[in-house]
Amino acid sequence: MVNFPLPRLDKDPTIYKSLLKYCRLQPGEIWSDPLAKHRIGCIECTDKDSVAKLIGDARFSLAVHDPPYNIIAFKMQDSNSFVDWCREWITITDYYMLKDSSLYIWLGADQKKHFEPFAEFIIMMKDTDFKSRSFITMRNQRGYGTQKNWMSIRQELLYYIKGNPKFNTSNVYTNISKVVKGYYKEINGKVTENIERSRSDKIRAGNVWIDIQQVFHLKEENVNGCFAQKPVAALDRIVKVSSGEGDYVLDFFSHSGTTLISCEKNNRNCYTVDIDPIYCEISIRRLERYRQTGLLGWQNSNPFENEIKADKRLQKYLNEKYNIKY
Ligand SMILES: C[S@@+](CC[C@H](N)C(=O)[O-])C[C@H]1O[C@@H](n2cnc3c(N)ncnc32)[C@H](O)[C@@H]1O
Repeated sequence: MVNFPLPRLDKDPTIYKSLLKYCRLQPGEIWSDPLAKHRIGCIECTDKDSVAKLIGDARFSLAVHDPPYNIIAFKMQDSNSFVDWCREWITITDYYMLKDSSLYIWLGADQKKHFEPFAEFIIMMKDTDFKSRSFITMRNQRGYGTQKNWMSIRQELLYYIKGNPKFNTSNVYTNISKVVKGYYKEINGKVTENIERSRSDKIRAGNVWIDIQQVFHLKEENVNGCFAQKPVAALDRIVKVSSGEGDYVLDFFSHSGTTLISCEKNNRNCYTVDIDPIYCEISIRRLERYRQTGLLGWQNSNPFENEIKADKRLQKYLNEKYNIKY
C-alpha cells in the first residue's frame, strides 16, 4: 500500500514552516470559490472588519462553530478570558444570522479542571439573543482513561436558536435500526413492539448520537496533518436538519474544512474562517479533492503529498524523525 502520512502540523514547526509557502492565503486574505459560492477567510474570527469583508451581504440560517479549547496554547490564563473571547465571536455570529436561525457549538469540558470552560460558556450564552434548544452528546467509539476513570467518550454539542428556524424532521433518522426491544404497548389486546412505533425502520435522532464514528487514521475521511476533525456524518446531520438547499452556513473554525465539505455535499454555501493559512489551504484542497475524486479525505496520503515528493530535505526530515518514507 502506498502510504504518505503527515504528522500533526501543530506539533512540528519544521514541517509546518516547510509547507507554509504552498498556502494560497496570507493572513487577512479571502478565497472565493470559482465553482460555487463558498468563501474562506484567513482571518481571526473576532476581527470584525475582516469578517465583514468576508461575509458581505450574506446572512446565515445556520452557524456551526468548533473553537479550540486549549486555553494554554491560546495564551489565555483562565477560562474566563477564553469565554470573553467566545462572547466576541458569538456577538459577531449573532449579527450575521437570519432572524430564524440555528447555532451549534462544539464545546469541550476539561474533566480534570472542573469541566472548564463549559459552565462559564453556557452562563455567558444567557446574555445573548440565542435561546438554548438542546445539549447533544456525540459518542466516540475510542476513548481514554479506562483504568482509573470512566472512559471518556463524549463530545459535547450545544444547539441554540433564534426565532423559529428550519428543523427538517424528515432528515433526522439515524442509521440505527430499531433492533432494541423493550418498548411495547398493548392496543386492543395486541402487544406493539418497538419496531412498530413508526413507519421507519430506523430510530430518529435524539440528543445522544451513538451512530457516528469519530475520525481516526484508518477512516477514508481522515486528513493527515490535522488533529481536531469532526466527522462529516455529524455535519451532514446538522446541515440537513437545520438548513435548506441554497442556504448560507457559517463556520469560524474551519481546520480540515468539514463544514465546507458537508455544505458542498448538500448544496449549501459555506463561509468559513481559519486564523491559520495552513488550515485554510487544507480546507481548499479538501474541497478540490472531493470534487475531483468524491473522496472525503486522505486516508493513505495527505494534502501536501505532491509538494513533499518534490522536497528532498523535507523527505529526509520525515524519514529521520518519523520513519516516514516517500
Ligand atoms: C477544533 S479546530 C476545528 C475543527 C473543525 N471543526 C474540523 O472538523 O476540522 C479549531 C480551528 O480553529 C482555528 N482557530 C484558532 N483560533 C482561531 C481564531 N481566533 N480565529 C479563527 N480560527 C481560529 C485553528 O487554527 C483550528 O484550525
